[in-house]
Amino acid sequence: MSFTADRLLLFGATGDLSQRMLLPSLCALHADRLVSDKLQIVCTARSDMDDESFREFAAQALDKFLPEHRKGAIPSFLKRLFYQPLDANDTSHFHALADKVGTVENGLAIFLSTAPSLFEPTIAGLVASGLANERSRIGLEKPLGIDLPSSKVVNDAVAGAFTEDRIFRIDHYLGKETVQNLLALRFANIMFEPLWNATHIEHVQITVAETVGLEGRVGFYDGAGALRDMVQNHMLQLLALVAMEPPARFDPVDVRGEKTKVLNSLRPVTPSDLVTGQYVAGAIAGGSVPGYIEELQKPSETETFVAIKAFIDNWRWKGVPFYLRTGKRLPKRTTEIVVQFRPVPHSMFAQRGAVAKPNRLVIGIQPEENITLDLMTKVPGLDRGGIRLREVPLDIRMPDAFAGPTKRIAYERLLLDLIEGDQTLFVRRDEVEAQWTWIDGVRACWTENAITPQPYPAGSWGPTAAIALAAKDSVTWHE
Ligand code: BG6
Repeated sequence: MSFTADRLLLFGATGDLSQRMLLPSLCALHADRLVSDKLQIVCTARSDMDDESFREFAAQALDKFLPEHRKGAIPSFLKRLFYQPLDANDTSHFHALADKVGTVENGLAIFLSTAPSLFEPTIAGLVASGLANERSRIGLEKPLGIDLPSSKVVNDAVAGAFTEDRIFRIDHYLGKETVQNLLALRFANIMFEPLWNATHIEHVQITVAETVGLEGRVGFYDGAGALRDMVQNHMLQLLALVAMEPPARFDPVDVRGEKTKVLNSLRPVTPSDLVTGQYVAGAIAGGSVPGYIEELQKPSETETFVAIKAFIDNWRWKGVPFYLRTGKRLPKRTTEIVVQFRPVPHSMFAQRGAVAKPNRLVIGIQPEENITLDLMTKVPGLDRGGIRLREVPLDIRMPDAFAGPTKRIAYERLLLDLIEGDQTLFVRRDEVEAQWTWIDGVRACWTENAITPQPYPAGSWGPTAAIALAAKDSVTWHE
């Protein structure tokens, strides 16, 4: 449904996500005049505050989390904010909320980031108060279930109040500039696509490494673990973007349709393709850090690391392993995709003892975006053997290529698209269900085979079995 909303309703407005990401993103959109002057932002949460005290609260959060050059916009941004306290379990509160939101005839965008237990009462309250109508759309932040059945319950509840074209499921990785650049790299250049298949690619690695541990998210993380927290969503989205067929158009139907086909083609895993780990005390950047159990203060078998060898059973990717790995308390924060090409079919240099190593494309997603293509070149010199070869990186450092634009928070893109109604970078229901289907299969595999997390010291690259997972195919993780 195409309308640009002039009301934004933010649930969970006092929460961590709101303080760190949503309010700063909205303030940045305001500062850059990317949202209409008419946009009003109604914030809600349980805390008893009024407009003024919430503005003070928001000002503090913005002062803490906005970069210095953005702070000048805070006073004018605060004027857009309004606040209504709400107990989501009490439907009558939603009427007061609807009064606060006021007229929605120009369109209402709702951003829901709430505890799973409050999900259904919130949807019911939106319906009862008339806030769920054809002039409103809803953005949903995870967690949206913990497996396929529970995600269906959530999706059914939302579908009872909003049509699919008004449901915007968020995966914040899709809001990252660098992730969108993956599409540009693949589909705005001629040289990659002809090689982008099993004939020319030997394997793909996707790593999402974090140095942080639990970060106080005890209740949530221990019930989720790395597989559901990171692989089910962010990593499978990256995999789908790397592996999908070229969409005909950059639009919600074509892009999401192609991603879904990939996700539906994922082969169920076998136990030998799976490693899970949990960090024990160790050191990161020279400082000692406690183990997961010490942070949690109770025993747990939740995995903080997972490595999987995945396969996509379709024509393009027949037999090409996709090595996925993610973990907390790893040595550095990095997200990258490595595309390892096959060797040249015949090397004319071999008889002179020179080795032509296969090309490799490394797409750094964060913290910095660097795209590196390792190419073989001749080492300069008058060697008697005739020629020596060495790989040299063809290096594109995106921050150097584009010095001007400000680095954007992923939520800036997503909030703007939610307000304006572009679903391209949001996850469709069949897509999310395909993700859960595969993830539930992984969990079933480790339950049936009694796979439990292996300890790894904080600051290492996970259990040694993860290294072996790749090494048994003569593959080395890129570090
Ligand atoms: C979230 C996970 O979805 O993504 C967190 O719940 C994780 O556990 C975070 O830390 C990572 O996001 P980013 O943008 O820092 O890579």
